[in-house]
Amino acid sequence: MKKVIKLFDPVVGQEEKKSVIDVLKSNFWASGSGEGHVQKFENEFKNYINSHDCIAVNSGTAALNLALSLFNIKNKEVILPSLSFISTAHAILVNGGKPVFVDVEPETLCLSPDDIQKSITTKTVAILPVHFGGMPCNLKSIQDIAIKHNLAIIEDAAHAAGAGWRYL
Ligand SMILES: Cc1ncc(COP(=O)(O)O)c(C=O)c1O
Repeated sequence: MKKVIKLFDPVVGQEEKKSVIDVLKSNFWASGSGEGHVQKFENEFKNYINSHDCIAVNSGTAALNLALSLFNIKNKEVILPSLSFISTAHAILVNGGKPVFVDVEPETLCLSPDDIQKSITTKTVAILPVHFGGMPCNLKSIQDIAIKHNLAIIEDAAHAAGAGWRYL
């Protein structure tokens, strides 16, 4: 007998279904159906994650690509975890950088700060932590390393909308 163990199941309720149907019925799909849906989402999401700004894009891949395009990573190295979705590395490559894979910690499934430290070279410009499965990385240690070596931190939070680090 074959047993299937799912990694996750998406949760979609009536409210989400109705919102999609409302946009489809509006017959004006540009810019969030021309009724400010995108702007409303950006405002609500910004408040939800307690941020100053929010820009909605069409996918996690587009978000990573946009974020990395704001830094000059051409021919430079970006440290990322060996455990992630392929687009984390693709976004680095598309922007001309070199992905440097670093192992994850068994407790958090996130980048190991000790291994980050060992992988830094003169070409390293950024660290790209992935909060895998919604489990926040050890951001304090990662931040200490980034400050010490003058590196940018670009977080891949595709799994972690609403996750928090030491909130309590
Ligand atoms: C960690 C991580 N980053 C980025 C992405 C890319 O997101 P999308 O599929 O929306 O482009 C995924 C998708 O699974 C992901 O798991």
